[in-house]
Amino acid sequence: MAQNIYDNPDFFSGYSQLPRQVHGLDGAPEWPAVRAMLPALTGKRVADLGCGFGWASRWMRTQGAVSVLGLDLSHNMIARAKADSSDPAIEYRIADLEMLELPEAAFELVYSALTFHYVEDFRRLTRMIHKTLVSGGDLVFTAEHPIFMAAAHPHWIADEDGRKTWPVNGYSVEGERRTDWFAKGVLKYHRTLGTTLNTLIDADFKVRRVEEFAPTREQIEQAPELAEELERPMMLLVSARKTETR
Ligand SMILES: C[S@@+](CC[C@H](N)C(=O)[O-])C[C@H]1O[C@@H](n2cnc3c(N)ncnc32)[C@H](O)[C@@H]1O
Repeated sequence: MAQNIYDNPDFFSGYSQLPRQVHGLDGAPEWPAVRAMLPALTGKRVADLGCGFGWASRWMRTQGAVSVLGLDLSHNMIARAKADSSDPAIEYRIADLEMLELPEAAFELVYSALTFHYVEDFRRLTRMIHKTLVSGGDLVFTAEHPIFMAAAHPHWIADEDGRKTWPVNGYSVEGERRTDWFAKGVLKYHRTLGTTLNTLIDADFKVRRVEEFAPTREQIEQAPELAEELERPMMLLVSARKTETR
């Protein structure tokens, strides 16, 4: 059973104040890079795994998706997503990605933002996603970058010039990692970059693009605190496609 930290009141209240939750997709610096990885959405059926407040689910509809299924473990998240939308073509539902089963060939796009690092059994999940996509369907996701997770904020140390550095701890030791972020002991799962990509390849996905997100110079000029993200990649962005069968 997954941890469901987003239903912890302290965690939820802190998380809700993040710029990306207050301002939506425009408050997420990686969004332009994610958007560039997404296929055309007109006429597509989309599943948004770990949909949170539903910012992306709603955006997909503005881009022509015919339906969006937003799934999330957290009652708080789903309640907020439902409150923010009256679109009958978006369905929000509680679901645990550790156990989720979706119908075969039911979606042209499976999208997920910053959720897969909470999932222990990534192998099962990728196979299930492969099954639920139509032939030629796309999986586009972001997750916490494994280097960021292994160099967990805020455990930085100052170098001799006083600059913050983030030692990487046990990069090759995969599995549970705990962090204190809005609440103590938030549970995440560390997988190396190789494991993540090979799990997709083994599930018969063609990996199309991989980005290790770093802010642009313009973004740093506008929000100088983002400069820190040049020190280690914070997010991994992946697009993969289910090979077309004839
Ligand atoms: C960092 S938030 C991202 C939310 C949204 N995708 C966004 O980008 O704003 C991670 C989300 O994953 C959800 N989550 C974590 N573990 C999950 C699981 N096992 N099954 C389904 N959702 C999960 C959380 O409840 C939370 O809403």
